[in-house]
Amino acid sequence: MGKWWKQSVFYEIYMPSFKDGNGDGMGDFAGIIAKLDYLTALGIDGLWLTPFYPSPKIDNGYDISDYYNIDPGYGTMKDFQSFIQEAHKRDIRVIVDLVLNHTSSEHQWFQDSKSSKNHPKRDWYIWRDEPNNWESFFGGSAWEYDKASDQYYYHAFAKEQVDLNWANPQVKKAMFEVMKFWLEKGVDGFRLDVINFLKVNDSYKDNPYDAEKNEQNHLFDKDQEGIFPIISEIAEFVHQYPDKFLVGEVGSEDLDILKQYSGNNKLDVVFNFNIGSLGEFDADKLFQQLVDTDQAYDHAQIPTLFFSSHDMSRHISRFGGGEERAKLVATLMLTAKGVPFIYYGDEIGMKDWITDDITKMKDVQGLLAYELGIQSNQSHEQALAVANDKSRDKSRTPMVWSSHPNVGFSTILPWITIPTNAYKINVENQQNIPDSMLSFYKNLLKLRKGHSSLKSGHYDLLRIEGEMLYFVRKDSIEKILVVLNFSEHPKSLDVAAFFASDVKMLLSSKRTKLESGNLVTILANEAMILKDDGGDDSVKKRLCSNL
Ligand code: NOJ
Repeated sequence: MGKWWKQSVFYEIYMPSFKDGNGDGMGDFAGIIAKLDYLTALGIDGLWLTPFYPSPKIDNGYDISDYYNIDPGYGTMKDFQSFIQEAHKRDIRVIVDLVLNHTSSEHQWFQDSKSSKNHPKRDWYIWRDEPNNWESFFGGSAWEYDKASDQYYYHAFAKEQVDLNWANPQVKKAMFEVMKFWLEKGVDGFRLDVINFLKVNDSYKDNPYDAEKNEQNHLFDKDQEGIFPIISEIAEFVHQYPDKFLVGEVGSEDLDILKQYSGNNKLDVVFNFNIGSLGEFDADKLFQQLVDTDQAYDHAQIPTLFFSSHDMSRHISRFGGGEERAKLVATLMLTAKGVPFIYYGDEIGMKDWITDDITKMKDVQGLLAYELGIQSNQSHEQALAVANDKSRDKSRTPMVWSSHPNVGFSTILPWITIPTNAYKINVENQQNIPDSMLSFYKNLLKLRKGHSSLKSGHYDLLRIEGEMLYFVRKDSIEKILVVLNFSEHPKSLDVAAFFASDVKMLLSSKRTKLESGNLVTILANEAMILKDDGGDDSVKKRLCSNL
């Protein structure tokens, strides 16, 4: 039996926004439990939950103040355990987000560290007499002055998210205890937040400036020497528990660096932002990134495939091209080589939200951008535009379950605005509608489940011609051709170049029927999946011996 995660499709649940079960306007475990049957029907195999631990929620849980409990807003430990049980009952595995790089400034460890220069926990965090030029990823200096001790502490994100000093063995020990605790609670693995940040350069040299990108180049505050032994230790520790899975968030687009984080004795997979966070849609660029990743990775490595998350714009909004293109992207994600991560709501085509009212903005990154804009004399409109650009609220609005009040998410107004135009794109409307995005996802997931080559087959002949991307998945049982016509024009494809025998249409995003003959027309913005054998809907193809 191969590793379960290699065959799995994950679904990311942004905790506050999936389903409110207790009527307080915020998602929770009771809500998720109530929707497990929906997730089973969708056909996913694993869930990734964003942080649910007690937290002041400056960064919605990525600022943990207690690693051993459940935030009361999300439920109790008992709720968590019933959730795990119910998910497992349905063969759904659960990986949980773990923030090892930093804690909330309210965590007792930091309170102790801050209490005096001589406190034994002083060295659990990074304190310096003088700051350097390192910038926080949310904007502004990464150093915060502490008047009482006349020193600065380091925070790669908000000042309330204080970086731990992983050079201190006690920190490592404490975090391994945390991992043990959750593994013993039955989680199936972790999504490790900003895992390439655990080590900073001991020299504390200033970061250089990247003139091309017009921003700081984070040369000395991530991906530092010494990180890989730590990664291996974490992997070794977690993998002592049979069948546990590790996915790391590694915000390095440089494939030479990225590829060092996963594989044997390392993380199982990492998020490939080079593919996942492509800005505007460009079929050639997308293709190039797929090829580059495939070439950079060795045999033991598999990429992840995702195009939306709680940190970025949803691909349907970012890429343009509406539902048609979104279906192409979904097909790519669920049939190419990689471990797919669907972001909640993408399966119904939820769109980004942009606010014209800064008082409605919740995301710390957007709010800080606004503040910095105003401080540097931008007008309110300019600062708001920058804030909207930076804000991750855009993809964090409540899951739209129905057109009922509060989109069926909650009985009261949720913690974040429901966009006025959100109501029409909802789960209820799309159930059992053959053309809907939801049905498309379900069909794709079902197809994937029933075809071994799509999960673990050889990945071959990845090509692009005039914005038509195609690839073959093949194993000892079957050969499947996936064709994605990203162009605005119909194209014809000679299937005889791929198949020596009958061809069967497994799926078309435009529900095209296959005609007889070797030339298949792929409509503009159509995704098509073809298979090499006969069957009920098959069309007899001329036997072709030139393969
Ligand atoms: C990455 C998380 O995905 C993001 O939401 C968070 O703000 C930062 N790490 C800091 O923890």
